[in-house]
Amino acid sequence: MMDEQSELETLREIYYLTDDASCNWRKLLVLGDCLDQQLKRKLLWMWPTSVDLDYFNQLLAMHDIQRVLSIGCGSGLLEWLMTVSGGRKVPMFGLEVDRNWWQSKYSVRSFIPLNYLEDASQLDTDLLTKCCSDVHPCALLFCYFNNRGAFLDYLNVYQGKWLILIGPLPALGIHTDPNPAQPQLPIDQWILRERLNWTDHNIVAFYEKIA
Ligand SMILES: C[S@@+](CC[C@H](N)C(=O)[O-])C[C@H]1O[C@@H](n2cnc3c(N)ncnc32)[C@H](O)[C@@H]1O
Repeated sequence: MMDEQSELETLREIYYLTDDASCNWRKLLVLGDCLDQQLKRKLLWMWPTSVDLDYFNQLLAMHDIQRVLSIGCGSGLLEWLMTVSGGRKVPMFGLEVDRNWWQSKYSVRSFIPLNYLEDASQLDTDLLTKCCSDVHPCALLFCYFNNRGAFLDYLNVYQGKWLILIGPLPALGIHTDPNPAQPQLPIDQWILRERLNWTDHNIVAFYEKIA
């Protein structure tokens, strides 16, 4: 485990690499490879490779997905990597619960524009649009999400047609809900269109709404 001082220095380096002036995502990926596991998880649950990001961005372009809202994005570092590695063509926005934590001095910085769900009764189609600078999201992204009830609430108010689920292969023994391979979506409404095998036995699944 890293001591507090080394963690601060590493975070400083990450903030530097992700600021607008340097925007050095390739170097960030290299740094990610040697990070302490605890800090890694604090920043994001799965570190993609540049090849993973490239395939992902190709699918966004192929399906004309122009704006993504990531639900439970945490720090948003994964989404930052996605957008900058794709030449910032597809903006990524985030939605989290627990504003107090994300704005506290203990939490890491947010790497994408972050919105908060203050209370579940607030959740409606307009809120999802507001989260994306008042333009409706083309896709909702859930990465390592683990809250079935909340997931279904989001699906109920979402009016777009793409759903992107990222998580571990079921055999890995890490529980997420939804799991991208077995999300238990209403089968007459959603169809699996794309599936990417990412590094470390993670998968990315693109589902399209057909009804
Ligand atoms: C395991 S973390 C994954 C974080 C990030 N997506 C990643 O891959 O690193 C799950 C996140 O979902 C958030 N979350 C849980 N319930 C939520 C809800 N109802 N709406 C939005 N976010 C939620 C948690 O605060 C947490 O940050």
